[in-house]
Amino acid sequence: MGDYSIIEERLGGLIGGLESEYTRRTPKSRELFEKSKKLMPGGVSYAIRYFRPHPVFVRRAEGTRVWDVDGNEYVDYWMGHGTHVLGHSPSFVLDAVGEALRVGTHLGYENPYALEYAELLTKVVPGLEMVRFTNSGTEANMYTLRLARAFTKRRYVVKIEGGWHGGYDALHTAVSPPFTGPESAGLPEEYLKYTLAAPYNDSEAVEDLLRRYPVAAVFVEPVLGAGGCVGPVEGYLRELRELTYRYGSLLVFDEVITGFRLAPGGGQEYFGVRADLVVLGKVVGGGLAGAGAFGGRAEIMEMLDHLKIPDPRSRAFHGGTFVGNPVSMIAGYTLVKRLSESRSLYETANSLWDEFRRGVDRVCEEHGSICWTTGAGTMTGIHFTRVRPRNGREVYELRWSKLVEYAFHLYARLSGLLYISEKLVHLLPSLIHSREEIELFARTFEGFLGRISKA
Ligand SMILES: Cc1ncc(COP(=O)(O)O)c(C=O)c1O
Repeated sequence: MGDYSIIEERLGGLIGGLESEYTRRTPKSRELFEKSKKLMPGGVSYAIRYFRPHPVFVRRAEGTRVWDVDGNEYVDYWMGHGTHVLGHSPSFVLDAVGEALRVGTHLGYENPYALEYAELLTKVVPGLEMVRFTNSGTEANMYTLRLARAFTKRRYVVKIEGGWHGGYDALHTAVSPPFTGPESAGLPEEYLKYTLAAPYNDSEAVEDLLRRYPVAAVFVEPVLGAGGCVGPVEGYLRELRELTYRYGSLLVFDEVITGFRLAPGGGQEYFGVRADLVVLGKVVGGGLAGAGAFGGRAEIMEMLDHLKIPDPRSRAFHGGTFVGNPVSMIAGYTLVKRLSESRSLYETANSLWDEFRRGVDRVCEEHGSICWTTGAGTMTGIHFTRVRPRNGREVYELRWSKLVEYAFHLYARLSGLLYISEKLVHLLPSLIHSREEIELFARTFEGFLGRISKA
């Protein structure tokens, strides 16, 4: 066990020097941030992208690398919020997008591209008998919940503490400490009246809720993403499957991160558990905006079918101006087709990151067990906690420091490594990060531990 207070003191000293060096190396980013603060709230387009003392402004990306406006190069372990599983801007996708733009950026009519993509997705994603496209993961979750409620004729939804499903009202709770109440101003408590939360990796807590409330659906990320890249304990997802069957609720896997990442068929394939409905995002858009889809059992999806249910008030609504636009459809199709033909890539990447986690765990142990890895496949968390966290609550509540995540983020930036966020070390690398790039992260991390703890 490390002496946390001594380490915390050392961190205080370290951070000042790292901040000065970072400021010296990123003057243009700093300038843009100052300007941005006047134009965009907080100087950023998404608060999660902020880091102290100012974020880097990235000008360009390619493969596993990004370059900031000051010309600094970084290995990217965040990859467009986990979107770019085959690296930034793979040339075969760019070529397809070039062709797609000639088709028309947005047709506004039914088109063969959405149909072709839907057919491919039903072959790649287990149990996806029917699918609809959305413009984001948030939207996909929103429509999925509405569909689940329409199908089951129940109101309650169970989500998992630390689970992130986007900013949609009914799911925007129990994301961060204290894991209760609205996560945002402007979100009335009443809108969460039917939302219940249970800790991750605790099927008994879910059963308790299923027993007491008529629950339409249990929403779970097969591996907690924003909650710290925490994977399921043996049997957890199977138990959720069994319980939801037993209590007549739907099991929804939010595979916005895990989809096409853990395996071509996502968490369902990787863990061998079949959900009723699956929510997709990020990768599904082929690296372009407008990335979202949801689907699953035909019997449920038919609640959206205006031919079978002509009365709009009797069916569940889904739609949107840009849904099924040819550019997102062609980009997504091209990427997912390639992924479905690249099984060995998954085996290699997943085992490299397994190895990474084992190696980092070893180093953490050598430094007084002050840190622990979590994750599955390429999804990787590193936690400065007292023991290895098993759920989103423990990720925060078992922390021994207020400074260490930030200090390491700064240290990593200065070592040419980039990820989000400065509050949580969770990595969403691509499947094509090389052994050298993975080892670079491990070495950098070990170097950092050497600076803050006496081995
Ligand atoms: C698991 C999960 N679900 C949903 C979302 C929301 O997706 P989007 O940001 O595309 O709205 C995210 C985004 O990070 C996510 O990680």
